[in-house]
Amino acid sequence: MVKVNRRQFIILSTASAVTASVASIALAQNNRNPFKSQALSPKFYKSAGSLLKLDLEASSRPISLGGKRAYLLGYNGQVPAPRLEAQAGDTVRIRFTNNLTQPTNLHYHGLHVTPVGNADNAFLDIPPRESLTYEFTLPKNHPSGTFWYHPHRHGYVAEQVFGGLAGLFIIRGELDEISEIQAAKEEFLILQDFALDGNGRIQSPNHMDMMMGREGELLTVNGQIKPTFSIASGGLLRLRFLNASPSRFYRLALENHPFYLIATDGGALAEPVELKELLLAPGERVEVLVRGEREPKQYRLLNLPYNRGGMEMMEDEMNMMGGSSHMMGGKSQVNPQILATLTYQGSVSTLPLPKQLIPVETLPEPKTVRRLELSMEEKMTPGMGMSFTFNGKAFDPNRIDAQVRLNTVEDWELVNVDPDRMDHPFHLHVNPFQVITRNGKPEPYRAWKDTVLVRGGETVRIRIPFRDFSGKTVYHCHVLDHEDLGMMGIVNIQA
Ligand code: C2O
Ligand code: CU
Repeated sequence: MVKVNRRQFIILSTASAVTASVASIALAQNNRNPFKSQALSPKFYKSAGSLLKLDLEASSRPISLGGKRAYLLGYNGQVPAPRLEAQAGDTVRIRFTNNLTQPTNLHYHGLHVTPVGNADNAFLDIPPRESLTYEFTLPKNHPSGTFWYHPHRHGYVAEQVFGGLAGLFIIRGELDEISEIQAAKEEFLILQDFALDGNGRIQSPNHMDMMMGREGELLTVNGQIKPTFSIASGGLLRLRFLNASPSRFYRLALENHPFYLIATDGGALAEPVELKELLLAPGERVEVLVRGEREPKQYRLLNLPYNRGGMEMMEDEMNMMGGSSHMMGGKSQVNPQILATLTYQGSVSTLPLPKQLIPVETLPEPKTVRRLELSMEEKMTPGMGMSFTFNGKAFDPNRIDAQVRLNTVEDWELVNVDPDRMDHPFHLHVNPFQVITRNGKPEPYRAWKDTVLVRGGETVRIRIPFRDFSGKTVYHCHVLDHEDLGMMGIVNIQA
């Protein structure tokens, strides 16, 4: 068997162009009343009488993005999708219709619900023109927090999320009931990036875009460009961030203004943590409190430059193409970008920060430690492309990679051995976990996560309790092109 090195591979694949077989998004014929649908469907759905019930439809639509017409993919015609809100113990029933030209399905990212049946089942396949009713019940002790939903049909995930398919799934509960949090004004910030051509159509990624993970130059917050949020002097503002971009990282800072982290992916911290900036990898969420404690003027929410690795590989390719290869937006960013503006408006009597939030349990130290190596590898057959792997293996829907027992706790050691030192955000479905150490150093505070960044060369140890639900589910890299290119594995939880 012949093994090609990366350099040979790049030559082979650019010559044959077989690897980049990206299905283009065919547009729906229904172009009448382009903007009407957006106004007609509600922007959020809330559960009533312990039931969250709605119809959800995925389709391609012309949508207004920054005042220009863009042909995106939306749920109920909206980008971002309508926000869903439920509470612990509620039943969720979603009648979903696929009006895309590709197969799709729904993933409820971060929810602790069953992976079996018409629930958080990444193995479901809903062909175009078909419908499926999702139904599942949230456990009575489900944590409150910022979760989300997006397509998860293997092979199409990056393309569909890059089209705009993503929405928040909020679970209300104990965090919302803390009086200081209740007094805060609440805003949701969904971060999405897009790459559009002059006609408002989504650009197709080239081979390099997919290797790095596709990014777009157009940065949006809630489908808007540089929106403004306001805070009252003395008041509290609760900002709930979701990185719904397929590959873009956001290194967030509020210029000259402190903020306080109160929750991560899986819900609340035990107490607020003051931060100057934070890094949000694809799939991750955070909640922060901002206090109206500064001079009343405008403050910019910035995306600071961040290098997520892989640059050497890209430079190789650029040189080989005689500098003619360009990417949609994955180039290294040098200057801060403005995402939004915070303005002071009015004043209220000074509100205190909460001192305590929700206790985060200490998990018992487990006997089982599993090692997962994250990497990018050349395929065995020359010209067949690269694949992204766990322990050297690309995703196989018929292989179980990790066999675990229900009601046990395991430590997983995530080791990034990528030769190009690319960052890979690791995500596990159904069961949230805690990060124990990074390169052997303990984490500064305990928090529930479902997506954790594993930087190039880094080893991250996470502790996972497998509770309540048996069945097969997946873990994968949340740079969604990497997931589609094989960086996904199956865990079977046995009762
Ligand atoms: Cu948000 Cu399996 O993904
Ligand atoms: Cu990755």
